[in-house]
Amino acid sequence: MGHLHNRNIIIGVTGGIAAYKIAELIRLLRGDGAAVRVIMSRGAQAFVTPLTLQSLSGHPVHTELLDETAEMGMGHIELARWADAFLVAPATADAVARLAAGRADDLLTTAALATPAPLFVAPAMNQQMWNNAATSANIQTLTNRGVNIIGPDAGEQACGDVGAGRLTEPADIRAEISAHFPNRALEGKRVVITAGPTREPLDPVRYLSNHSSGKMGFALAQAAAEAGAETILIAGPVMLDTPDGVTRVNIETAGQMHEACMEQIHESTDLFVGSAAVADYRAEFNAPQKIKKVGDTLNLSLIRNPDIITEVAKSTHRPSLVVGFAAETEHLMEHAEAKRVAKGLDVVVANDVSRADIGFNSDTNMVTWLDNAGHEVIPLTTKQNLARLLIARCSKRLSSTSDSDDKIPAKMEGDR
Ligand code: PMT
Repeated sequence: MGHLHNRNIIIGVTGGIAAYKIAELIRLLRGDGAAVRVIMSRGAQAFVTPLTLQSLSGHPVHTELLDETAEMGMGHIELARWADAFLVAPATADAVARLAAGRADDLLTTAALATPAPLFVAPAMNQQMWNNAATSANIQTLTNRGVNIIGPDAGEQACGDVGAGRLTEPADIRAEISAHFPNRALEGKRVVITAGPTREPLDPVRYLSNHSSGKMGFALAQAAAEAGAETILIAGPVMLDTPDGVTRVNIETAGQMHEACMEQIHESTDLFVGSAAVADYRAEFNAPQKIKKVGDTLNLSLIRNPDIITEVAKSTHRPSLVVGFAAETEHLMEHAEAKRVAKGLDVVVANDVSRADIGFNSDTNMVTWLDNAGHEVIPLTTKQNLARLLIARCSKRLSSTSDSDDKIPAKMEGDR
């Protein structure tokens, strides 16, 4: 988990029954050493008084866009600039729509538009409203813009309905914001990450490959470096810049990736993350000259590539934590769990790649973390944010394995 000490956090509260939970959230954030300022919409004030949140945050609550006294103290632009993180919680369906539309007709939306800080939105609304196509489109718009959507949780709702739309619990909101501020939890650790596709040549001009862009793996490398790890990124052919502080090893084929991984895995490697989409097969013969067009069919003979992550997991210098990804188009959980066991992995990150918004080449992703204690869905978010969450989980797991051999149980889906 990251750290919030000395971080400035704005919470924009909008008018939903879950507004009362913000009192607890402020308490948690301040307990972590963060400074909190609150903006309340008019609707929010019908559920919780500004005085309550003022007492808890230790600062007057901001409510009006055009307020002479506020502008003399901290005006809306100063407020927006002050923030290291800007959270809207609970975010009603209306607030989500207004943020997606880029409205700026009240203090909350204006400050959200004016802030350079990362924006977090924790929706809370009736399940029917959450499932409405209009809300889904607004959430997608915000996600595409890099806004971090937190939750919502599913369960019984204040209106009596049951379904998704409950505000994520304050402790979990804190964890998501916290993960955004790396605490150098991997300082002194060595991490090897694979990313992107491999290319298996057929002849001098053709190859077998897949749609991996490397975005997921590069985001993981960035998050690991931000967390203080010595980070080695073994990358297939992709068009991405190397993240700061990361050592990049470029490869083309699965054979080269295998060799590079084995070179990089030694006794001081703590974590291996295989996010690369490695070709399972290569052409048995790589034709020395361009294959000529003869006949209506062409038969290629393919042979198996080495399974890199399996080799890593059984190597004598096995890292303490070996994390694989499973890209699946059907039976996600069964196939992912089968891979975790067959390949000797501690964790598998199951990725449903049948959807365009969460798999190959997308900017966003949604995965399921799966280990020997259970599984947990990590909801749709940017690949950068997901990478931070995954790296935070890995570092937690690494510190628990070094404290004891006990594994941290993953929360079961539906636990929240
Ligand atoms: O790169 P992006 O466009 O951002 O897309 C991200 C992603 C979809 C590629 C990523 O999220 C993902 O799911 N990566 C795993 C892709 C994959 O090939 O999965 P798999 O189920 O075929 O392989 C399972 C695991 O074994 C993976 O950790 C893979 O790296 C590893 N493997 C597979 C074959 C092989 N010969 N050697 C391996 O190490």
